[in-house]
Parts: sequence; structure tokens; C-alpha cells
Amino acid sequence: MKRSIALLSKLPEDACTLNSSINTTQNLKHFVSVGDVETRALDLLPKAVKGYYASGADDENTLHRNRKAFASYLIRPKILVDVTTLNTKTSIRFDAKNVYNFDYPIGIAPSAFHCMAHPEGEIATARAAGETGTPMICSTLGTTRIEDIAASSPPGTTLWYQLYVYKDRRITEHLVKRAIAAGFRALVLTVDAPTMGRRRADERNGFELPSHLRMANFDSETLGRTFQGDTGKSGFGDYVKSMFDLSLTWDDLRWLVEFSQIPVIVKGVLRGCDAKKSIEYGAKGIIVSNHGGRQVDHAPSTIEALPEVVKAVNGAVPVFLDGGIRAGTDIYKAIALGADMVFIGRPALYGLTVGGSDGVKHVLNLLRTEFDYAMRLSCTPSINAIRATPNLVVHESYFAKL
Ligand code: FNR
Ligand code: LAC
Repeated sequence: MKRSIALLSKLPEDACTLNSSINTTQNLKHFVSVGDVETRALDLLPKAVKGYYASGADDENTLHRNRKAFASYLIRPKILVDVTTLNTKTSIRFDAKNVYNFDYPIGIAPSAFHCMAHPEGEIATARAAGETGTPMICSTLGTTRIEDIAASSPPGTTLWYQLYVYKDRRITEHLVKRAIAAGFRALVLTVDAPTMGRRRADERNGFELPSHLRMANFDSETLGRTFQGDTGKSGFGDYVKSMFDLSLTWDDLRWLVEFSQIPVIVKGVLRGCDAKKSIEYGAKGIIVSNHGGRQVDHAPSTIEALPEVVKAVNGAVPVFLDGGIRAGTDIYKAIALGADMVFIGRPALYGLTVGGSDGVKHVLNLLRTEFDYAMRLSCTPSINAIRATPNLVVHESYFAKL
């Protein structure tokens, strides 16, 4: 069993199709938590890829705070409620034309370069999303063309497209048109990355895209390849610095809303006032995110930032959260504090690493099962029951004040 997992990481470098002789279903059973999957994935990944996936910015305060803060929120379970049947169904409404129903409030956050984790890359992730009814946000910086992701996903897969805005606005316009034509039904505008945060592992490793991979959404050689890295310099960081539009402002959000005519979700919000302003400028959803601790270091954790944003939004649009979700109780806490849904970044990449599409599904199923447990053990058998119970989840300081 161990051998077939090890094999997975030794596929020829240029192979970008799944080796179907590898069956990891048996192996996956051994991973009983997202932490187990993460440990194995970090074991398997080459040094530079591991560095890129796992790192946060600078001293990684925010990266670690995302996890630590979840631990500082406590669940005050109710008792003696019939929990025979659970209702985890989640409805997300951007506007009258864009209403989604999901079985669980869990989605896949956008992340770049899935083919570094597994030869089948984004296609495998999207299959896992489609087969589990999970929405997937696809990154601008994918290693698979968005048209190919959409065409190979199971019918009905919910795909949203994450947008980085390039200095040359025509590139962005073209990407948006292609995404809409391919069937992506919402755009996620990432606003916390005018440039990439400095990830020290990437600088040490001179991180660049492996030579057999491309940023597949770009035809031109300049846009499709990262610049070369070197010791002390992240080739990817340099690419972003030279290509992304540092002059992005609120007016550009308005422009995108009008240009695209599909719901625009703003990703990377940590302040209530910015959430409110995003809505004024046309956003139909907010993602409370610090980019998995990869942008400005010493930003608050997302679970800390969530309540202020929820209060400011006041139900006007759905509020999502990503960053540090590793267990069902994390999801439970986020929902109790007002999130409509959460998204996972690294856990999906780690699932992909250990078992391709089945690995991603395994991670999603682990989280779903743990979420079920949290609901039953806290006697709150529906999403509504979680959200309607005052002080179900409190910061630990609640008890200090007693
Ligand atoms: C990201 N993230 C990200 N966000 C985005 O808007 N576009 C992108 O291309 C990427 N790429 C990316 C790559 C990798 C390797 C990571 C780890 C993250 C951020 C991502 O969407 C999300 O905000 C965080 O990953 C959430 O934190 P967790 O779940 O990884 O703790
Ligand atoms: C990252 C980008 C791609 O965090 O969002 O590496």
C-alpha cells in the first residue's frame, strides 16, 4: 500500500494524466483526519512545491494565527435535542438569478498550480468537487485551461472563476469572457494581492513553475511561464510583480461588476467597512480571507475578523470564510459566528497530492463527517439551529469574565 502512494510522487515529470493503475482508495482509509493527509502530502512533495504550498508570508504569524485562533473559540453544546436526523443543507443566494443549494457549507478555495500536486491537477480537483456537490473556485493561475476543467467536470459542477487583474486590462477582459463562455457562473475578485506576499521558502528555493508545467490559461510564452527563480529570489514573486495591476481600486470593482454581468464575490476582506463598501460597489458576496496567511503578515486570523464583517454585511449578501479550516469543529465555529459557508485551500491540495481526485474527496468527506459529529454532539441538528443559538460559540475570554 505504501508503495503505490510513493509511486504517485514518482510519475514522470511531464506526465499530466492520471496513472489509472494507481488505486489509492485503500490507502486513504488510513488518513482519519486532515492532519494525517497533510503530514503524508508534505512527505511526498518535492521541497520547492512543499515550500510554495505550505508557506505563509514573512514570519508566518498570520498563517499560524489562523489555526491558533480557531482553538481560542469554544463550543458551548446544547443538550437533550433529538439529533437523529441532521440537515446540513446550505442555500446561497447571490441574487434572484443565482441561487445555489449545497449539501454542506464547504467549498474549495482557489489555488494555483494543481498539476504540481498531481498529474491530473485541476481536472481531478474539479471531479472531486462535482462528484460531491462542492463548489470549486478555479484560480487564474491554473495549470489546466479553464475550458478543459469545465468540459471535463461532471454535469452540474459549480465552478466559479477567481480573477487576478493584469496590468494589461485586455488580458483580464479576455479571461472573463472565456470563463463566462466556459460556464463559470460567478467571479471571485482577489483583492489582497496587489503583489505576492514574501514567502521565504520560495525565495530560498528560487521557486518557479516546474519546466513541464505552464500557466495554462495564457497562450503567450511571457504570460504562461513564470520567470526564472534563483537562490534568494522567487521567480513566481517576480512574475506577479511585473504582471499584476498594482493600481487596482474600488472603481475597478465597479467596472468588473458591470463588464461581467455575473455575480462578483470579493475575496480578501478583513474589515467591516470594506465589506460594506464592496457591496456598495456591486459585490454579491464577501470572502473573509487573509489568503491563508500568505499576504500581509500580522493580519488577524479570519475567524477573528469574521464577526465584524458579518455585522457590517447584515445579511445583504452571503459571507464566506477561508483560512485554517482543518476540522469539522472549525466549520461549525465559522457557521455559528455568521459565515454562510467556508472554503478550504491547502487541505484540497494535500488531498490531491496523496490520492488525486479520490484524495480531495476523502478530505471533503472527513470534514463533512466531523461537521456532522460537531452538530450532533452539540445538539444543533441544522444549520439554522447553529445560527439561531445565541452564544453557541464564544471566544475563550467569555469565561474569563464570569
Ligand atoms: C492560495 N490562495 C490563492 N488565492 C487566490 O485568490 N488565488 C490563487 O491563485 C491562490 N493560490 C494559492 C496557492 C496556494 C498554494 C495557497 C496555499 C493558497 C489562497 C486561497 O484561496 C485561500 O485563501 C487559502 O488557501 C485559505 O487558507 P487555507 O485553507 O490554506 O488555510
Ligand atoms: C499564492 C497566489 C497564487 O498565494 O495567490 O501563491
